[in-house]
Amino acid sequence: MSSLKEHIDLHRLPSHIAVIMDGNGRWAKKHGKPRIFGHRNGVKSVREVTEAAAEIGISYLTLYAFSTENWSRPQLEVNALMSLLVDTLRNEIETLMKNNIRLHAIGDIHKLPKKTEKALLEGIHETSMNDRMTLTLALNYSARWEIKEAAKALAMDVREGILEPGDIDEITFQRYLTTSKMPDPELMIRTSGEKRISNFLLWQSAYTELYFTEIYWPEFRKEDFYAAIIDFQMRERRFGKISEQVTST
Ligand code: FPP
Repeated sequence: MSSLKEHIDLHRLPSHIAVIMDGNGRWAKKHGKPRIFGHRNGVKSVREVTEAAAEIGISYLTLYAFSTENWSRPQLEVNALMSLLVDTLRNEIETLMKNNIRLHAIGDIHKLPKKTEKALLEGIHETSMNDRMTLTLALNYSARWEIKEAAKALAMDVREGILEPGDIDEITFQRYLTTSKMPDPELMIRTSGEKRISNFLLWQSAYTELYFTEIYWPEFRKEDFYAAIIDFQMRERRFGKISEQVTST
């Protein structure tokens, strides 16, 4: 069977792809199962997409796993998600090591349950020397939280005399973001038919191409990921310029 993978131009890959994994709950409901059944099956999709991204040579993959707003879900679901994270992290570290993938996290991770934070920090530590791809989990993350924290840290540095207010430009500001060591995502994928960014990487997505698919996250497979990349490669990214300026360079 032929794969969409063959149609990807490997010389024009996005270096950073961000994913809003959505639709676990609706997928579970469709199957007459509790929501956590959707999250558990969502782990399979995480595996598929991570594998696909590493195989074709994506350098950064960032997955929105838990937002600061997700705490307001029923306690039972939050607890189940947190345990699922611990189990998944413990089970998958070996695979990350085998595939030379580095684990990273963005978000207010110190406010996660201690067990989850511990599993996460262990995974990050263990994989810290890997350099084929960086897999970042956004956990207890929201972009407004991140921007607020950056503003606070900047203000402190100004107060300490490390920085003059006049020195603050876009490059300085981005150094204070949790993604300071990554390029901005060129492509953001959201599954399940919702067409929102939902407080994810707001600063970083200024020029990001957005790709929305109706597929629920637990059904998202490698071929769907390839389809998103092909769609991205068919677009023209102008960064505010006119078409002729972009195509003539
Ligand atoms: C969105 O679906 C999904 C989440 C909030 C959680 C994503 C978590 C996983 C896939 C499991 C673990 C992940 C990692 C990275 C190890 P939803 O619950 O909002 O679905 P709905 O919109 O249909 O209700």
